[in-house]
Amino acid sequence: MGSLTVRNLGEDIKKRLRLRAAANGRSMEEEVRLLLAERAAETATEAKPRAKQSTKPEPPVRETATRRVLLIISGGIAAYKSLDLIRRLRERGIAVRVVMTRAAQEFVTPLSVGAIAGERAFTDLFDQASELDVGHIRLARNTDLIVVAPATADLMAKMANGHADELATAVLLATDKKILLAPAMNPRMWANKATQRNLETLVGDGVITVGPNAGEMAESGEAGVGRMAEPLEIVAAVEKLLESSDARAAQNGPLAGKRFVITAGPTHEPIDPVRYIANRSSGKQGYAIARAAVEAGAAVTLVSGPVGLPDPPGMKTVRVENARAMLRAVEAALPADVGIFAAAVADWRTAGDAVQKLKKDASGPPKLELIENPDILATVSKRKTKRPKLVIGFAAETEKVIEHAKAKRKRKGSDWIVANDVSAEGGAMGGDDNAVHLVTAAGVESWPSQSKDAVARQLVARVAQALNGKAT
Ligand code: CTP
Repeated sequence: MGSLTVRNLGEDIKKRLRLRAAANGRSMEEEVRLLLAERAAETATEAKPRAKQSTKPEPPVRETATRRVLLIISGGIAAYKSLDLIRRLRERGIAVRVVMTRAAQEFVTPLSVGAIAGERAFTDLFDQASELDVGHIRLARNTDLIVVAPATADLMAKMANGHADELATAVLLATDKKILLAPAMNPRMWANKATQRNLETLVGDGVITVGPNAGEMAESGEAGVGRMAEPLEIVAAVEKLLESSDARAAQNGPLAGKRFVITAGPTHEPIDPVRYIANRSSGKQGYAIARAAVEAGAAVTLVSGPVGLPDPPGMKTVRVENARAMLRAVEAALPADVGIFAAAVADWRTAGDAVQKLKKDASGPPKLELIENPDILATVSKRKTKRPKLVIGFAAETEKVIEHAKAKRKRKGSDWIVANDVSAEGGAMGGDDNAVHLVTAAGVESWPSQSKDAVARQLVARVAQALNGKAT
């Protein structure tokens, strides 16, 4: 529905919208949704609880991992290794968005690349759907790093001379991000003065290279310097560059010098040594917030319940099983400037510790006596000493979302509550998107449905404003 709305707008409005969206690094549809949400927040003193039937628009591209690489594949035989490169990067929790040149598609198909990357590969500068949804400017900006692998002699020549004749070159010209090149070509092409001249220009422009290596070429009988670096070498170079961008953020980001403690994921409360009480939390939202805080320069301790996500880079991750251990780890991480409690902590645990597995016997199913777990958010909010300046809780609700969230904010003593609908229709639990309401002392802000990464970045930006005295 969103894209229909955009397409039906007049040319002038569309142009202004495109510029605004590009300036904010968003798609046009996201921009429209945010404008509508801002307008709705202005006119309503308080948003009504969301209707049960879900009307949330599907964002065109999902952003669930937290470190993002844009991989440009150009047309060389080494393109087949790029598939392995994508897999290796994703294994490390790095989201990979792929742009393929026309020539690259002669070597590997967008279909196989898309299947491995987990989202479609972008190929066409003049594809209306892509331009409306994402656009080359957003592709160029919405990433932490651009990797060109393989980088052919032709693509390097185009980059050195500022061409923008297809999507890949337009993105490379439009970006202000670091670019890592993994050249791959015939040794004679690599040694050619023209290629070496282009390389010198690119390195002078700040482009970083990995490889090429010496060895056998794909063409029989050819050997020399020109083989693309191996995927793991490229991954190592990527990780080093991403770490150095974290280090830069730690010095210059809006949250430089601020300490955060963040909880995420479910807790597992043991029933006996093999069984436990749990919930459906995936940890994605808390992990995304932790990552966004690191990107903004904060020093983060992430206290995580059991989830299937890798330790995010650039922060201290403490893994715990149950609520009591989570509270201990949070208290050990104090003092902090900000506490964000996104974990879905189990409210109850069983009384007593069953040391042996409960067995079936003639007396029928066991009766589980439940006792209350410590409330981590409330405990930290009400601390007399070492209370973080800003304490933010989440409210997972299935009905009367805002009403319950407001009551929860008062009851638990937190400064803010991020309320989300965890009903089956809301789809937040385990899903990639989230529509939240930010409840503060000043009122309620309802944010549009967006990826959990986008929620995280918006929340972190809001925290930075509050700490810098620009908002409550
Ligand atoms: N929370 C916590 N410790 C608990 C329970 C919840 O720190 N033992 C935190 C959560 O991390 C979240 C907030 O409290 O930030 C609200 O969690 P939620 O599950 O929505 O609320 P409950 O306290 O469980 O209340 P209810 O079950 O009545 O909705």
